[in-house]
Amino acid sequence: MASVVPLFLSFYLLLLLPCLVVAQTTGNVSLGIPIIASDNAEPWLSPSTDFAFGFRQLEKKDLFLLAIWYYQIPDRTIVWYANGDKPAPRGSKVELTAERGLVLSNPQDEVIWRSNWATGEVAYAVMNDTGNFVVFDRNSRPLWESFKYPTDTMLPTQIMEIDGLLTSRQKENNFSRGRFQFRLLQDGNAVLNSINLPSNYTYDAYYISGTYDPGNSSNSGYQVIFDEDGYLYVRRRNNVTFFLTPEDIVPSRDHYHRATLNFDGVFSISQHPKNFDGNQSWAVIRTFPDNICIRMNGAMGSGACGFNSICTLNNNKRPTCGCPTGYSILDPDDNYGSCKPDFQQGCEADGQISPEDIYNLEELPSTDWPQNDYELLKPCSLEDCRTSCLNDCLCVVAVLRGDGCWKKKLPLSNGRQDREVNGRAFLKVRKPEFTHQNPQPSFPSTKREQGTVITVVSVLLGGSVFVNLILVGLLCVGLYFFYHNKLTKFHRNENAIQSSLRHFAFMELEEVTNGFKEELGRGSFGIVYKGLIQNDPADPTAIAVKKLDGVVQDRDKEFKTEVSVIAQTHHRNLVKLLGYCHEGQNRMLVYEYLSNGTLASFLFGDLKPSWNQRTQIALGIARGLFYLHEECSPQIIHCDIKPQNILLDDYYDARISDFGLAKLLRIDQSHTNTAIRGTKGYVAPEWFKTVPVTTKVDVYSFGVLLLEIICCRRSVEMEIGLEKAILTDWACDCLREGNLDALVDYDVEALNDRKKLERFVMVAIWCIQEDLSLRPTIKKAMLMLEGIVQVSAPPCPCPFNSIS
Ligand SMILES: *[C@@H]1O[C@H](CO)[C@@H](O)[C@H](O)[C@H]1NC(C)=O
Ligand SMILES: *[C@@H]1O[C@H](CO)[C@@H](O)[C@H](O)[C@H]1NC(C)=O
Ligand SMILES: *[C@@H]1O[C@H](CO)[C@@H](O)[C@H](O)[C@H]1NC(C)=O
Ligand SMILES: *[C@@H]1O[C@H](CO)[C@@H](O)[C@H](O)[C@H]1NC(C)=O
Ligand SMILES: *[C@@H]1O[C@H](CO)[C@@H](O)[C@H](O)[C@H]1NC(C)=O
Ligand SMILES: *[C@@H]1O[C@H](CO)[C@@H](O)[C@H](O)[C@H]1NC(C)=O
Ligand SMILES: *[C@@H]1O[C@H](CO)[C@@H](O)[C@H](O)[C@H]1NC(C)=O
Repeated sequence: MASVVPLFLSFYLLLLLPCLVVAQTTGNVSLGIPIIASDNAEPWLSPSTDFAFGFRQLEKKDLFLLAIWYYQIPDRTIVWYANGDKPAPRGSKVELTAERGLVLSNPQDEVIWRSNWATGEVAYAVMNDTGNFVVFDRNSRPLWESFKYPTDTMLPTQIMEIDGLLTSRQKENNFSRGRFQFRLLQDGNAVLNSINLPSNYTYDAYYISGTYDPGNSSNSGYQVIFDEDGYLYVRRRNNVTFFLTPEDIVPSRDHYHRATLNFDGVFSISQHPKNFDGNQSWAVIRTFPDNICIRMNGAMGSGACGFNSICTLNNNKRPTCGCPTGYSILDPDDNYGSCKPDFQQGCEADGQISPEDIYNLEELPSTDWPQNDYELLKPCSLEDCRTSCLNDCLCVVAVLRGDGCWKKKLPLSNGRQDREVNGRAFLKVRKPEFTHQNPQPSFPSTKREQGTVITVVSVLLGGSVFVNLILVGLLCVGLYFFYHNKLTKFHRNENAIQSSLRHFAFMELEEVTNGFKEELGRGSFGIVYKGLIQNDPADPTAIAVKKLDGVVQDRDKEFKTEVSVIAQTHHRNLVKLLGYCHEGQNRMLVYEYLSNGTLASFLFGDLKPSWNQRTQIALGIARGLFYLHEECSPQIIHCDIKPQNILLDDYYDARISDFGLAKLLRIDQSHTNTAIRGTKGYVAPEWFKTVPVTTKVDVYSFGVLLLEIICCRRSVEMEIGLEKAILTDWACDCLREGNLDALVDYDVEALNDRKKLERFVMVAIWCIQEDLSLRPTIKKAMLMLEGIVQVSAPPCPCPFNSIS
């Protein structure tokens, strides 16, 4: 029984259907009978029911588009629309009114769109079988026609006059104004061009019909005509035609024809059989331009795809856009948009690591970005081309064509990969282990120097030959001295590193610290004092002198070894060791002085540092630790990571101090058990067990520290109540309950950056896992913080509860 009723109902509906169609408005539209935007609003149909006028539901189900579409074919292709930029909410209505013409208004009766004309009173309107919606006055004079206000499509019997315009939509399913245009210019040319949104500035055309004769205006075009047989052509003033459609096309009697400027910039002419077996769809018979990836090549604008993207032409002559290796899409919802490098491409010094170690050159066959050259090396071999780009911090890609090597700069535009392209591209991609997304600004002077050289070269390229010859000569001499100087300076530095570690006499240090008067802090290894060295009396250098206590007498040799190991570390997130003192009982280390004190006083002071500063500091510490763990040989385990051991330089960049002072662990020794070091609250649980100490102890302490940085509070604060007292436990609870707001004490800045906040908390919880095999390496933690590696939800490191 249950199934019989619906069956009966649908049969009844089937019977009713013809009546419904008859009841629908076909052809003649009267005044004052609106269509309401709703799920099953009936459109106004043309007499043949080929075309419909009414509301189409958009992807967002409560928004509607006032449109004209093919009523008889399954994909109901839209050929005209009124309110692409302003979709109509559910309940909006469209109505023909005597005084105001065709009016689209929202449920609040505010006008969203209306048809405009000069004068006259509306009597009726017709949805014509041609696809033209026409509003007439009492004498059947047309007052307004949709054909006169085309959107992105032209149909047979439609004519475009001088200054006529088709505009693409944003996406296949987004009818906002897009950036491509098809126009008939004053001079008689029909062109395709892109524009800048929202200023409407017109970029270079990527198709020109050539229907302009500067010598004889009667040869120039003045109309684009889509005739009723389905031929599309430009008509010149002398009535000679220039066909855009091929010679012979299928008759319009049994085929629909349309010409559409697609959202991707391709203008295509296509046909569709009227009587079809339900299987066919639109067949494209001609596209303009023939290859948009190649033809779009303006000096301004991004090209067919976004910036830093590569365009390839697919089988139906439409573009596909993609990001090259090492780049990713800027807006994940826009496959045709720009790409951003996943790494910092810049001239910040990478220490003494050579570019070969940092970058890969990715070879892309038949690929080019023709508008981004800044230097041409010719003649040039393949090897020289690669090396030149690799060693030039401004070069992002080099293209080798014949014996020419074109070096290119960001942002890359008009990227294409196509058989027509003559040339191989070598794209510089930073190796994943050297990917830093948010590098701190540093060494800006290096950048400036290189910039000057480039400017000089560009000026040269513009001057006269003779002057150039002289200038080239001068430049060579200049460059020689410039680089010679730089090299010798560099050598001096390197020597300085070896022997840089200055040995201070005790007396000397006593003097520069004014008798160890100004105390900077007390650490686990001794007290730190401030001193002033008068190398240059006008500009004394501040230093920090650490008096070590508890150094065992018979470990002289070990002390020296440790000090020399520390002296070999160079990283922008580590405090630099300048010298040492080793005299009798006295052991002292002399460090550079950092003006902004310790992270502890910064974090837990009265003024709360900004979220942005905090995240930068956390990243800096991770990078410094990564260097100690994985780039130092022998490997250095810090063993006492805590906010008191992190200093801040002039730019509030984090600098790790006191490293290398705990037992120095060579990689082959790192599995020995050691007496407990470190500071309560930060030490990893394995210190209490008989397991070897590894770099994971630092990861644990880093996790605790990271939570302190996120929350701006100490890891243990008994006075704020049992629930919150242990930060690690409380953070786990908050993360589990999704209550990060409370965790950061409703810090608006952090909460506005919720994704990053959540990421940071999750990384911290991963780092404090009791099971050290679950803890990430510092490298992985760093990559997760930077957002390069995905972070999954961490398990709760609960067993720790039982200890506390
Ligand atoms: C449409 O209606 C108007 C007025 O009702 C009438 O004058 C006109 O002839 C009609 N046109 C068609 C094509 O039916
Ligand atoms: C549609 O337009 C054509 C050409 O303008 C015209 O001949 C025809 O009568 C129109 N049809 C209706 C129903 O108005
Ligand atoms: C269409 O795209 C525009 C621009 O990208 C955007 O502002 C608008 O919200 C989109 N419209 C819809 C209905 O998604
Ligand atoms: C650009 O053109 C559109 C459509 O013609 C117009 O609505 C818009 O105001 C124009 N923008 C500017 C900045 O002129
Ligand atoms: C322009 O071209 C037409 C034919 O296309 C020719 O008849 C006419 O003489 C030409 N006028 C001039 C000024 O050359
Ligand atoms: C072109 O054709 C139109 C109508 O088809 C006619 O009025 C005009 O005189 C013709 N012009 C020339 C130059 O033949
Ligand atoms: C529909 O198309 C498929 C594949 O293109 C074909 O195998 C099938 O026979 C077609 N069906 C009809 C009814 O033409």
